[in-house]
This record gives sequence, structure tokens and C-alpha cells, in this order.
Amino acid sequence: MSAVLQETGVPPATARRTGEVILDLKKISLSFGGVKALTDISFDVREHEIRAIIGPNGAGKSSMLNVINGVYHPQQGEIVYRGVPRRGMNTYDAARSGIARTFQNIALFKGMTVLDNIMTGRNLKMKSNFLLQALYWGPAQREEMAHRREVEKVIDFLEIQHIRKTPVGRLPYGLQKRVELGRALAAQPEILLLDEPMAGMNVEEKQDMCRFILDVNDQFGTTIVLIEHDMGVVMDISDRVVVLDYGRKIADGTPDEVRSSQDVINAYLGVAH
Ligand SMILES: Nc1ncnc2c1ncn2[C@@H]1O[C@H](COP(=O)(O)OP(=O)(O)O)[C@@H](O)[C@H]1O
Ligand SMILES: [Mg+2]
Repeated sequence: MSAVLQETGVPPATARRTGEVILDLKKISLSFGGVKALTDISFDVREHEIRAIIGPNGAGKSSMLNVINGVYHPQQGEIVYRGVPRRGMNTYDAARSGIARTFQNIALFKGMTVLDNIMTGRNLKMKSNFLLQALYWGPAQREEMAHRREVEKVIDFLEIQHIRKTPVGRLPYGLQKRVELGRALAAQPEILLLDEPMAGMNVEEKQDMCRFILDVNDQFGTTIVLIEHDMGVVMDISDRVVVLDYGRKIADGTPDEVRSSQDVINAYLGVAH
């Protein structure tokens, strides 16, 4: 099952240290008209953890991330982030409070360079607006330089120096996904939400992406919530896994616990309810 990473010698997830609960999702229900995307879902995420969400197509995984970062507002339930209960967090609040994400379908500015795309990840951190820049050119300039340095760090970290001036639309898919990760990292998030970061990648690109995710987690202590279809990857890099099926939680535990759950096996084999 773990073919992708066994070759790279990544230490097992259990060797990593995880901390207190940072994000607690309580009885979340979300529907769109008659469609129940999420029904009464509860799970938590611990600091420094790599927490995977898996499940068949349409299970509600992306909806769950959209609830966490305020794109969707659940009809029921509560999100407790760092001990503070929130019902109606919007995307701006979520980003300000340290939650960044990537999307299932790449959401980058295709005509802009890698550098400029990653720079957009700094927007929320920028104090000076256009007027301030005109009035106080010096400080604004210094701030701009500080942001550029952060962005260059991300570019070095992701090993994309050679393409920093290339328009994103000209890059192969695997590298576009890496740039999208870069934009999220530029915001220096506490929690990083990744929606299928390895979908459509070949084995080598997946290995690279796994290494970057593990390095982000290790070096920056970033908590990661990951949706991923490749079971080998999920089982290798996750500390804990929550399994959704038809908008309901059917399992939650370590990779080994989840792997041996009969409900999970049935869901993946398509056994009727
Ligand atoms: N904006 C939306 N409007 C209507 N239905 C939606 C919307 N977003 C998701 N859904 C529905 O919610 C369910 C879960 O979708 P999604 O969260 O994308 O699943 P997954 O990411 O697990 O494949 C699906 O039935 C989907 O059609
Ligand atoms: Mg999805």
C-alpha cells in the first residue's frame, strides 16, 4: 500500500510529536437545498498533526475544508479554533487567523509569474495600501522588501528558483500544484488545508509533494489537514485519518485502525448501505 514512500525512507508518522487540540469541529451539518453534504460530523485536529480526510467522490471532503476556512457556513454545529467557538467565520477571518488552503482545482493566476502568484499569498500581511505607499514611500518600500524576502524563502524551500519568472500557465501540472502550495505557505499559516495536492501527479511528483508536506510540518511546525485519494500516501504520512461517506463520518483513527475498519472497506468497495 505504501509503495510511494517506502522508497523514499520517510519515517513513519507515529514518530512525530503532536500537541493540543487546535481545531475542534462539533456536530457540523451542511446542506445545499435538498442535498446533505455533511451530517453531524465531529472530529478534532491536533497541533503539528497531519490529519487526513478520505472518502469516495461526493463524500463531503471538500465541503468540510470549505466549512473550516469559512467558504461555507454550516446550518448546524460549531468550530472551536484555539479554544474560541465560532459559528460564522468568513474566509477573511479564517485567513487572518492563520488558516491557508489550496484547492482541488488549481486556483492560480495563469498569466502571472510564479513569483507574483506566491506574492499574492502575502496580501493579508501587507499593511500599506496604495495611498500609504504614496505618502510614506520609505516605510512602504521597506515593508515590500520584507515581504519579498519571505516569498524568496518559500521559493528556495520549494526548489523553484529556476521558474520564478515563468508564467504559471506555462508550467506542467505538478509544478503548478507546487506553486499553489507556495502561495499558501507565503501566508505563514498555522493550519494548512490541502485539497488533493497530489491528484493527477506521477509517482515522482507525488514523492516530491510528500516530501514538501512533511518538511513543512517538520520545519515550520505547521498543522496540516489533507484530502488525498492515494491510500499509500495517506497511510504513510498521516497521524490520524477521518473517513467520510455520503456526508457521514464512518471512521476516525490511526491509519492502521482505519484500514482495518469494516465500514471503510465496505465504502471503498461500494457495498450498499
Ligand atoms: N456549492 C455547492 N452547491 C451544491 N451542492 C454542492 C456544493 N458543494 C458541494 N455540493 C454537494 O455536496 C456533496 C459533497 O461534495 P464535496 O464536498 O465536493 O465532496 P468530495 O470533495 O468528497 O468529493 C456532493 O453531493 C456535492 O454535489
Ligand atoms: Mg473534493
